[in-house]
Parts: sequence; C-alpha cells; structure tokens
Amino acid sequence: MNLTELMIRPMAESDLAAVTMIEQGTQEVPWNIAMFMDCLRVGYQGFVVEREEQVIGFAILASAAGESHILNLAVSPLEQRQGIGFWLMQQILSGLRQQGVNLVFLEVRASNVKAQKLYKKLKFSEIGQRKNYYQTKQGREDALVLSLNISNV
Ligand SMILES: CC(C)(COP(=O)(O)OP(=O)(O)OC[C@H]1O[C@@H](n2cnc3c(N)ncnc32)[C@H](O)[C@@H]1OP(=O)(O)O)[C@@H](O)C(=O)NCCC(=O)NCCS
Repeated sequence: MNLTELMIRPMAESDLAAVTMIEQGTQEVPWNIAMFMDCLRVGYQGFVVEREEQVIGFAILASAAGESHILNLAVSPLEQRQGIGFWLMQQILSGLRQQGVNLVFLEVRASNVKAQKLYKKLKFSEIGQRKNYYQTKQGREDALVLSLNISNV
C-alpha cells in the first residue's frame, strides 16, 4: 500500500452514505446515518480518508478545553491491515497537537484486540474500564478507557 495515495479531509454530510456503509461492515452494533449527522451538526470533527476519490476510512472526535475524545474510527473491511488506520490516527494526532490539544481519550471494546493493538502501537495507555459500556448482539461488554498525552510527543 502506497500511503502517499491517501488523503485526509473533513467529513461532509455528502460523505455519510459511504461512511455508514463502512460502519455497517465493521462494527458489531453500528451507528446509523442519523447518529453521524447529529455528530456533524453539533460540531464534532469528522474526517475521511480517501484514495482515488473513494472514502475508505473515517474518524469522529469531540474536542474541547485541550482534550479530545475519539468517538469512532474505522477502515473499510477490504482495506484493513495495510497501515491506513495507523496513518489516519497519526494525521489526527498531529492535527490535534497543532490545535493545542494535550490529552486524547477513547474507549475500545474489551474484545476488540486489533484496535487495542493499533492504539498500543500509537502509545496509548489503559487508564480504566467501564463495565457493560457497549451493547453486543448477545448483551453487554466492558470498555477499556485509553489515553495519550500528546503535549510533549
Ligand atoms: C481498528 C482498525 C481501524 C485498524 O485499521 P487498519 O487500517 O486495519 O490498521 P493498520 O493496518 O494501520 O494496523 C495498525 C496496527 O493495528 C494492529 N492491527 C490492525 N489489524 C490487526 C489485526 N487484524 N490483527 C492484529 N493486529 C491488528 C496492529 O498492531 C497493526 O500494526 P502492525 O501492522 O505493525 O502489526 C480496523 O481494524 C477497523 O476498522 N476495525 C473495525 C472498527 C474498529 O474496531 N474501530 C475501532 C473502535 S475503538
């Protein structure tokens, strides 16, 4: 995968059909298009990754008072494991640093080992757990809460 072919840009409402399609292909309990729309309308930051004008990944985050919370992140199933998720997170973290954000938080499903490995590679640390935080097809599962201080990276 040639990472120089990738472009990151702000998510627009016109991207939401493609974003929702990726979400449905990657998440156990996916957000629907209205949830993404609400995020954009309340001013959360959304980003998409494009290659050859095709949306192949996205992220949504909420930032305030020097802190940022990553609310959602996914790479299209056929495009995974080529470095795109890592590249996207690096672009986001570098943009946040330029905005003066110091601390980044996120939750990840206790069963989501591949995402946990991605965040470990980015040097996130586990700072806590939220019991029964996520819905699953069968019931509930815990979230791990991770954080990264980017002020002096
Ligand atoms: C998590 C996700 C965004 C990673 O995106 P990706 O483009 O496949 O990840 P990358 O190719 O950049 O991999 C970066 C690191 O993540 C980890 N990783 C990614 N996929 C993995 C897999 N299938 N198995 C084990 N580790 C994996 C590895 O540490 C990898 O580094 P390495 O290649 O040096 O071993 C992607 O798997 C995804 O969209 N998953 C579904 C949605 C999701 O779980 N989002 C996170 C919610 S908190």
